[in-house]
Amino acid sequence: MKRIENYDLSNHNTFGMKVKAALYIEYDNVEELQSLDLKSLPQPVFHMGAGSNLLFKGDFPGTVLHSGIKFIKYVDMGLDEVLLTVGSGVVFDDFIANVAGNGLWGPENLSLIPGEVGASAVQNIGAYGVEAKDIISGVVCLDTSDWTKTVFKVGECAYGYRDSRFKHERGRYIITSVLFRVTRKYSPKLDYGGVRAALEGRDLQALTPMDVREAIIGIRNAKLPDPAQIGSAGSFFKNPVISREHFEIFATPDTPHYDLPDGTVKVPAAWLIDQCGFRGKTLGGAQVYEKQPLVIVNASGNATPEEVITLENQIIAAVQDRYEITLHPEVDHI
Ligand code: EPU
Repeated sequence: MKRIENYDLSNHNTFGMKVKAALYIEYDNVEELQSLDLKSLPQPVFHMGAGSNLLFKGDFPGTVLHSGIKFIKYVDMGLDEVLLTVGSGVVFDDFIANVAGNGLWGPENLSLIPGEVGASAVQNIGAYGVEAKDIISGVVCLDTSDWTKTVFKVGECAYGYRDSRFKHERGRYIITSVLFRVTRKYSPKLDYGGVRAALEGRDLQALTPMDVREAIIGIRNAKLPDPAQIGSAGSFFKNPVISREHFEIFATPDTPHYDLPDGTVKVPAAWLIDQCGFRGKTLGGAQVYEKQPLVIVNASGNATPEEVITLENQIIAAVQDRYEITLHPEVDHI
């Protein structure tokens, strides 16, 4: 178990904010986690993943916990369906590479999303028409109140768009592993805008999960900043859902949107932000990413949390003012 005081978190948040935690603890297995007396640690206690979807508002006065539980175990190799259990500290993309490398379908559309397996089940990460909940079978947790093990079936996790019970009962459960259900059965999901086009000219019937993974990686690399090169936390805002009447007030035939089954309309936040003139706008070291205005980047490498938050608030105010739509951050503010 790693236990370090006054710990520099610069390498633990993809935004690259230069902040510290009073105490950092990384445990390697369930028993080490259960040996901790959370109440005696500097407060508050915050459990993090890879730090790819959060913004530290400043130095963290309490304890940052991190899972070092790393295993990928195939538990049931059925004829079509395959069940595997994966440690919460495994890098999510390593899990996908492993599954796709074994010729199994399921998570390939989520390729290259930064972050770890535990956080994927908290955040219900999603991309290109697939969400984590579509492949999760169960979530194994410890209840922090008495360290008992609890297993939630996917139907008990209250999954929604970037949402779950683990977000609403924050701090109560720590996810130690996740059960995923994947399949040998040919089942590429190519209907999300841009995916089929990226595979143009290919014999679709001969596609492997690895082929789709590579196509997705290509699409993401063209649009999203590589956190190793330029700091960001991916999409900064959620895409808002509004009523059709509201949409029709400002829409023209060219306004991008997606009609949802319940009659509401999802409007890309990137489009709203762009319309308000924020594409490429800088504020100190922070910047609205030129290629994708849904992303705020640490352009200088030295952006401060205050600069990012000021830019965020300017965007929210401008979109509210012009469209009467309230953007909500997708990135957690800690
Ligand atoms: N949409 C559809 N069908 C399509 C295309 C888009 O329903 O065929 C919807 C999507 O639900 C999406 C919205 O329209 O919410 C805008 O889609 P776009 O592809 O332009 O993606 P985006 O808004 O830039 C979202 C996610 C990304 C994810 C991409 C690809 C959020 C906040 N962001 O971004 O996730 O990679 O779609 O699926 O939902 C992230 O969460 O950090 C992130 C990068």
